[in-house]
Amino acid sequence: MTTPGEWRCAAASVPPGRTATFRLECGGRRVSGFVVNFDGGYHAYLNRCAHVGTPLDLWPNEFFTEDGRALICSTHGAIYEPATGLCTAGPCVGDRLSRLPLRLDGDTLVVTCP
Ligand code: FES
Repeated sequence: MTTPGEWRCAAASVPPGRTATFRLECGGRRVSGFVVNFDGGYHAYLNRCAHVGTPLDLWPNEFFTEDGRALICSTHGAIYEPATGLCTAGPCVGDRLSRLPLRLDGDTLVVTCP
């Protein structure tokens, strides 16, 4: 069951090295986010580049670099660590993606508003 301010999906639907996008209703505003499964852990972030604030994925749900080791912003090429959201290269080095609270409820991923 989905309640406002919460997004749920089966953890198995986001296999290792993959992402999933979602929208959340937070304080009356719709926000876009994504979940990434990387190195054995799940992480959720706002889909908003730390540089100019555009979505990272020009092609929907395409977040990874070609080698699958990092996330990349399609606008100006900022590179982010999937597990920390830290920008390690590009125009916003040292900044971070905004993390969203995420927990596992049995086999279900639950993302909530900040
Ligand atoms: S908006 Fe992402 S690198 Fe510029």
